[in-house]
Amino acid sequence: MKSVITGSGIGVPKNVVRNEALTKIMDTTDEWIRTRSGIEERRYADSGTGSAELGMLAAEHALASAGRSKDDIDAIIFATMTPNFFFPGNGPVLQAKMGFRETTPTFDIRQQCSGFLYGLDLADSLIQSGKYKRLLLIGADVHTPFMPWERGWGATIGEPSREPTPEDRAFNTSIRDRTVLFGDGAGAMVVEASENGSRGFIAAKLFTDGSNIEALYVPGVGFRRRPFVTVDQIEKAEPIPVMEGREVFKQAVSRMPEAVRAVCESAGIKVSDIDLLLIHQANLRIVEGVGKSLGLPSEKVPHNIERYGNTTAGTLPILYDECVRDGRIKPGMLLCFTALGSGLHWGAALYRA
Ligand code: ACO
Repeated sequence: MKSVITGSGIGVPKNVVRNEALTKIMDTTDEWIRTRSGIEERRYADSGTGSAELGMLAAEHALASAGRSKDDIDAIIFATMTPNFFFPGNGPVLQAKMGFRETTPTFDIRQQCSGFLYGLDLADSLIQSGKYKRLLLIGADVHTPFMPWERGWGATIGEPSREPTPEDRAFNTSIRDRTVLFGDGAGAMVVEASENGSRGFIAAKLFTDGSNIEALYVPGVGFRRRPFVTVDQIEKAEPIPVMEGREVFKQAVSRMPEAVRAVCESAGIKVSDIDLLLIHQANLRIVEGVGKSLGLPSEKVPHNIERYGNTTAGTLPILYDECVRDGRIKPGMLLCFTALGSGLHWGAALYRA
């Protein structure tokens, strides 16, 4: 019995925000963003569109491409660090909006940039257990609500917005290292049990190291404080993620290759046998660094960060879907998914297409 991806789809907002648009609200340049991250543009959702709505779009496409209806799905896994509500998670939101039956349970998982990778392993495990035969897996994030929208950000998507004051600009500049990297987006897959043993998931290796969560986390708005959110926290910008960019970068370019080597070793497969390495899209320099460290030529390491930025749980399924649609993924190819993100969580999974 193997777990096979039978369909995929994406859900991205219509608003394209090019680097130039960000230069109007903070001190940054197109050149800095391109050379340091590879990003040229990203998508921003309209207010009122959450990760559940983008996830729903992706899920509808994935179901259609798998030729499945809602009633064919046994369970749903939704990976996001930016759910529509603090609780419940996006699973029941999507389930109700899309009209799934109540006999279709939903699992909500987080794991940030590694969320979809963890979801793939969970989907495979649930299928291997024999409990479920068909799963819908969604990875979606909207980062725009982290942005200080009242400080002129509306201009980025053509909304009526005040001209940033010098204070707004200084504040936006103080968080530019993170904000320029992120975009909103979602991807989804249908994963099914298959008796045809030649296709499907082969092995996965997942890792967590929580010893330095401060490398990338949201310091405010958490349940160790009473109350969990205060005006003071908001005034101190604590709901905005903080990131030690260089530290996360270093971890990413060493941990992902380690995970890829570990999963290949566990499956008795040579790294050079990988046909396509699907890497979490956080920074083009990370994508290229991981590929180089593994000795894989650039044509085996696709990227689309230039068009979407980092969509967190959305990056892997969006990249997979694009590679299926443009023919870069062909039946029989050996794929390797790898990701690293806040937690830190990271890992790799091997899959025969
Ligand atoms: N525009 C212009 N200048 C900037 C910008 C910007 N947007 N951002 C930072 N700078 C400046 C800095 O202020 C600094 O200036 P200084 O030298 O005068 O102090 C200079 O550029 C260099 O800054 P660094 O932080 O050293 O730049 P670096 O080359 O490390 O790139 C980056 C920063 C892009 C954040 C990189 O470190 C990175 O990609 N890190 C990893 C991110 C990641 O993988 N995150 C994980 C996934 S996210 C998740 O799990 C939710």
